[in-house]
Parts: sequence; C-alpha cells; structure tokens
Amino acid sequence: MNTLESGRLLVKAEGRNNHSMYMKRILVTGSAGFIGYHLTKSLLDDDYEVLGIDNLNDYYNPNLKLARLDQLKPYKNFIFNKIDISNRELLTKAFTDFNPNKVVNLAAQAGVRYSIENPYAYMDANLVGLLNIIELCRHNDVEGLIYASSSSVYGANEKIPFSVDDSVDIPISLYGATKRSNELIAYSYSHLYDLNTTGLRYFTVYGPWGRPDMAMFIFTSKIMASEPIPVFNYGKMRRDFTYIDDIIAGTRAAIDKNYAFDVFNLGNHKSEELMDVVRLIEEKLGKKAEIEFLPMQPGDIPESFADIEKSTEMLGYKPTTNVDVGIGKFVEWYQEYYGNT
Ligand SMILES: NC(=O)c1ccc[n+]([C@@H]2O[C@H](COP(=O)([O-])OP(=O)(O)OC[C@H]3O[C@@H](n4cnc5c(N)ncnc54)[C@H](O)[C@@H]3O)[C@@H](O)[C@H]2O)c1
Repeated sequence: MNTLESGRLLVKAEGRNNHSMYMKRILVTGSAGFIGYHLTKSLLDDDYEVLGIDNLNDYYNPNLKLARLDQLKPYKNFIFNKIDISNRELLTKAFTDFNPNKVVNLAAQAGVRYSIENPYAYMDANLVGLLNIIELCRHNDVEGLIYASSSSVYGANEKIPFSVDDSVDIPISLYGATKRSNELIAYSYSHLYDLNTTGLRYFTVYGPWGRPDMAMFIFTSKIMASEPIPVFNYGKMRRDFTYIDDIIAGTRAAIDKNYAFDVFNLGNHKSEELMDVVRLIEEKLGKKAEIEFLPMQPGDIPESFADIEKSTEMLGYKPTTNVDVGIGKFVEWYQEYYGNT
C-alpha cells in the first residue's frame, strides 16, 4: 500500500518478519562494489527499499561483484539495475521509475595508480556520472545526495592529521582531482538548488568482500600463493586503515543527518605502519611474506591520517575496530571465500 507522508512517497510494505512497516527508498550506485554492497545490505536489513545500480565493469574480477549481488538478491526490498551512471538516458528512467527519497553515489572509477593508465575511465564515471546523478537529484526532488569523496583530495598535504579545514587545492592524482571536483560540483548544486549534499572522504577501507586492487587484499593473496608482495616506498608508508563496519556506520549517519552541505573525513584516526599491517596479515595467515621493496609510485602519498573531530561531533562517528581485529576478520573471510590454500 502506498501513502503520502510529509509530501513524500513512502511505501508501506510487508516486512520479512510478517509485520508491516514504512520503508524509505534509497538509490545506491556502485551497489555491487565493496562499500556499496555493505551499505546496501545494512539498509536492506533495516527495511529500506533499495535500488542498486552498477555497471559491473571489469576493473577487477566481476565475479566478486556478482557474488556480492548474490548475497543481496534474497531481499524482497532490493531491486538491481545494471546501468552505467554515465548513460544519462538509462539513469533518468531508473530515477523516475524508482523515485528515490535519497541517493548515495558510490559508483566511481577508484584507484590512484590506474588513473595514470586509463584517465578517461575517471572522467566518464567520476565526472559525467556524478553530473548525471546530481542533475537527476535536482530534477526529481531528492531530499539528499550522499557521495563518496576520498582521502586522496588531500594530495600533497603535509599537515598530519588531515583535517577538513585543510586546503585541498593540491591533488597529486587525477583520481584525487575528480573527487575534489565532486565536492565543488556538490557545493554549487547545494547553493543553487537547495539540494542537500554530503561528501564522505573515505580513508583506506578494508574488510570482508574487499577490493582486490588494494594493498591488504594483494598482500593476503600473494602470501597465500607464496609469491613476493610489492611494498612501495621501501616500506616507509603509513595509512589510516578503516574497517568497513565503521565506514558503514558513518555513511548511515550521514544519510540520516542529511546536512545541507558538508564534507566529512571517515577514517580510523590512527596511522598504521604498512609493515605492521604486513606482520598482522602474516600472523593471521600463519605464513611469512616474501617482500619485494619498491620505490614510491607516482600519484601516491607516504602517509594518510584522518582528523575525525568534526565527524564525531556532527555524525556521532566513532570507529571501534582496530586493525588487529579487522585484519583477522578480513583474512577469515578471504580464506572462506577463496579456499584455505
Ligand atoms: N575503498 C576505499 O578505500 C575507498 C577510499 C576512498 C574513496 N572510496 C570511494 O568509495 C566508493 C566505493 O569504493 P569501493 O571501494 O566500494 O570500490 P568498488 O570499485 O568496489 O566499487 C565501485 C563500484 O562502482 C561500479 N562502477 C564503476 N563505474 C561505474 C559506472 N560508470 N556506472 C555504474 N557503476 C560503476 C563498479 O562496478 C563497482 O562495483 C568509490 O567512489 C571510491 O572512489 C573508496
């Protein structure tokens, strides 16, 4: 049964536990991706109705994206459309059919290193795609757009920890430049059209169902396969590793708060030595790594560290998973998913 409440279409639906409830409609792009999958699952568990959009591209093995989607399919309150967000026509139809209350844009071409190899992928997904999304939010009376930014916007910032008050005019990768552009475009739309927008600067997210192009995943798979692991900047790297459940809690808070315009850091507020992370993976796997020390990669930064004071104050964001526990959970999932050999 449909009903109108506060001028918004809410859908009254039969819940999985046979009790009726109201559900809000949230459109999540990148829903077959690492963060998008976890966010979608968390929303579905809380009886939101979710339209997931993803183009299932092969930047990394799409079987992992399909396997994530398999976990979401059993939910009656989940719809999936295989659409590229740079395709304005198909995206427009999906928006009008679903009529979302809020939109979370996580679809993007991720990765700092790949932006050197394939710059156009970043323009299409991160700029044209974002413009399509934000235009449709504007024209479809969406209450709020929450979108993924990145710690990469801090570029060559040398002040540690990275604060949302720091200057972000010095991106050192095309990826970082597209994410910063998203924040600027969002600001102009909030200003011009009263569209609520929140940008989330995620810091090195890891956990079960994680991304195969990221260091923790690469280290784990190579150690298991008895292959040498590439460690850049000769191991002199520090990263603020943030566990996926903390990221989802912060993202959910941003969806709920729905500020008029804001950007937040979502990190763990702890800068870990990369070699300590390698040691923890070795410990969890019960196997030593063979290490290949390499120079710094272009576009990369030696350290990331999030100042989360504003996120704690305005989103109630308090990360609770330390790397010891988080890496244990990641390795456990990895061994279960790929087999213990
Ligand atoms: N994981 C991290 O550490 C991290 C850090 C900072 C920012 N982010 C940002 O968070 C978001 C989610 O990242 P993730 O780690 O889940 O990455 P991911 O690559 O696993 O997920 C992104 C998803 O978007 C889809 N996609 C890409 N281009 C698309 C397009 N044009 N149309 C439709 N779908 C498209 C991909 O198929 C993928 O499933 C991205 O915007 C990323 O830039 C992630």
